[in-house]
Amino acid sequence: MSLSIVILAAGKGTRMKSAITKVMHKLAGKSLVEHVIDTAASLNPSKLSVVLGNGADQVQPLLQSKQVNEVMQYEQLGTGHAVMQAKAQFVDVEQVLVLYGDVPLTKLTTLKQLIDCGSADSLRILTTELDDPTGYGRIVRSDAGEVICITEQKDADPQTLSINEVNSGIMVLPAKWLAESVEELTNNNAQGEYYLTDMVALAVAESIDINTVCCEDNAEVAGVNNRIQLADLESHYQSLKAEELMMSGVTLADPSRIDIRGQLTTGTDVTIDINVIFEGNVSLANNVVIGANCIIKDATIGEGTVILPNSMIDSSTIGTNVNIGPFARLRPGTVLADKAKVGNFVETKNVNIGKGSKVNHLSYIGDTDMGSEVNIGAGTITCNYDGANKHRTVIGDRAFIGSDTQLVAPVTVAEGATIGAGTTLRKDAEAEALTLTKSVQKTVAGWKRPVKKK
Ligand code: UD1
Ligand code: CA
Repeated sequence: MSLSIVILAAGKGTRMKSAITKVMHKLAGKSLVEHVIDTAASLNPSKLSVVLGNGADQVQPLLQSKQVNEVMQYEQLGTGHAVMQAKAQFVDVEQVLVLYGDVPLTKLTTLKQLIDCGSADSLRILTTELDDPTGYGRIVRSDAGEVICITEQKDADPQTLSINEVNSGIMVLPAKWLAESVEELTNNNAQGEYYLTDMVALAVAESIDINTVCCEDNAEVAGVNNRIQLADLESHYQSLKAEELMMSGVTLADPSRIDIRGQLTTGTDVTIDINVIFEGNVSLANNVVIGANCIIKDATIGEGTVILPNSMIDSSTIGTNVNIGPFARLRPGTVLADKAKVGNFVETKNVNIGKGSKVNHLSYIGDTDMGSEVNIGAGTITCNYDGANKHRTVIGDRAFIGSDTQLVAPVTVAEGATIGAGTTLRKDAEAEALTLTKSVQKTVAGWKRPVKKK
């Protein structure tokens, strides 16, 4: 059945108290409306569009990158009015699914269930039951349980206000009927708005079949109106993710202290300590151990690798049985081969570090190709930047770099070379030889320390 999906996102979001338009606020590192777009796209609709108004310029780049149609609603006269603006999206399709840009966590399975709960020429409404339904439109039913209408909070009498079944706002409507009937909506109500919910009473009048799916998890239909609700949904989302991880064989020191902002794939027997943040696409192979307070973004971590506390890894590829941290910072383009070690207070960027090579303490290694079994002494710096351009450092297999060495790039340390401590290397170092640049040790007898001038 051909489907057109319309996502309403023109509202102001006044209660966010923000210069950022509401649907661009982030949940798990991704904007609210992007969550909705991604779920919608998984339904493979023939058309997918977003109704924009307030802060449209903030949302447009996202729509362009996702190749989603944009519909403008210049004045926000209500949800029904928003849908009217999208009429051009209803031609040549059988049904229309209306989603809200500020309801981010509806599951794909729930939407499929809603679409399938009635025939293509029926009206289908996603509802939920709330202990406190304040603010929501109420689902009003006859004694026989048939839906009669939806009444908004501000238009409801006390009896209607006591109904706990509420409108999620998410609906599936027959496209042709919607296109014709949406024009019949009026703004004759407490808020002076064109309510999409009034389509229900129109359907009843025209004997259009109405079906509902009552969603058990309230979070799936919860909208974000303020930052408290945003934080609530964030923690709900994170606890679901933590449960998924544990069910797939990951040990979490504390499931309430992990944040996943993207896609995390894991092998078995992975162990994650507290306060770890994952961003973008991260994959962890079997037996990876991650210490407390690590931030890992867009990275592949090989089997048996141990990441000690307080390390940051960004856009890097890590082999098997590697040791990282504590307090290591791996910047984009870091590639560590199997059994490499990058220790405390070491920063790397655009480097290939070969098998079994060690950079254990207090170093900056950037724009470098390092062979295998290399040992980099504490405090070694690759001087990769001459003030205008970046240059590469090449270090051959089995090289040994003494502590406090500066490698002024472009420079090559050949295989098996040894560089004395404190060297400032400005020319290439020969293979299997010792290179020193500091003067030989001498003693000056009777030497007096300088004294402070009066
Ligand atoms: C709406 C429903 C209510 C439901 C609730 C669920 C109506 C009349 N009411 O109420 O039954 O229980 O959602 O959260 O539909 N929007 C536009 N243009 C407009 C107005 C709104 O695009 O002119 C968009 C908003 O950006 C938002 C969505 O529509 O994404 C819902 O609007 P909102 O004003 O929050 O509706 P509610 O009063 O919450
Ligand atoms: Ca709302």
